[in-house]
Amino acid sequence: MKRLEGKSALITGSARGIGRAFAQAYIHEGATVAIADINLQRAQATAEELGPDAYAVEMDVTRQESIDQAIAAVISHTGKLDILINNAALFDLAPIVDITRDSYERLFSINVAGTLFTLQAAAKQMISQGQGGRIINMASQAGRRGEALVGVYCATKAAVISLTQSAGLNLIKHGINVNAIAPGVVDGEHWEGVDALFAKHENRPLGEKKKLVGQAVPFGRMGTAQDLTGMAVFLASADSSYVVAQTYNVDGGNWMS
Ligand SMILES: NC(=O)c1ccc[n+]([C@@H]2O[C@H](COP(=O)([O-])OP(=O)(O)OC[C@H]3O[C@@H](n4cnc5c(N)ncnc54)[C@H](O)[C@@H]3O)[C@@H](O)[C@H]2O)c1
Repeated sequence: MKRLEGKSALITGSARGIGRAFAQAYIHEGATVAIADINLQRAQATAEELGPDAYAVEMDVTRQESIDQAIAAVISHTGKLDILINNAALFDLAPIVDITRDSYERLFSINVAGTLFTLQAAAKQMISQGQGGRIINMASQAGRRGEALVGVYCATKAAVISLTQSAGLNLIKHGINVNAIAPGVVDGEHWEGVDALFAKHENRPLGEKKKLVGQAVPFGRMGTAQDLTGMAVFLASADSSYVVAQTYNVDGGNWMS
């Protein structure tokens, strides 16, 4: 039996990478998915590749008007919203003395404010529907402890874990389960950019950092987006109805908590 039959999901930042893999897995389980991304062209291409149960929505999680329009687009397409994944995020890297206000504001505005206010808009919609819902936030192992060069991104992901706890506790009375996934290092276009930043700041050849972080994973390799889909389906399905305000590590053993 399909575990998300008839469900309507919105996944932010799902034009590529992990969000795209989540969309594919949700469709496989019977859901209809809004591929919501700031990059509309890529969202459209992804929706086309994923088939008739996917549709593209232009969405910038840093703008309230855009968040509201994306929720409205989901309602006009499927009549309801059952599942939100707050997946869109940005990464940056700098020694503490070189962190700029611009980088700080960009990362907090997407990773933290974007997560909170998209979660808020989805929760309002789900409360008005009266049938509960599921909200999954993308945290990271970076939210579990600081890293010398990754101060701002780590702080944003720690904030996502904290918001997941508060929203989880506040919204369960409406039947809305809020939980999070904390991946470790996941191969894909995102990590190409991360690797290039480490190469610059740690004076390494391109590709070296990526190889090292993969070798350091207890499982023996970097993760793939597909390694995360089982948890994303579980947290959206009836199997997890008693799971509230948790952040699950799916990282090949990198972090234990
Ligand atoms: N890749 C990893 O190693 C890793 C590890 C831990 C956590 N994560 C988290 O998993 C999630 C997905 O990561 P990924 O590797 O697939 O990232 P990615 O960079 O490949 O994809 C992010 C997507 O978000 C979109 N986006 C950017 N700004 C946006 C905005 N303002 N509004 C809407 N969409 C926007 C981008 O266009 C892109 O399609 C992120 O929350 C990330 O922090 C990733």
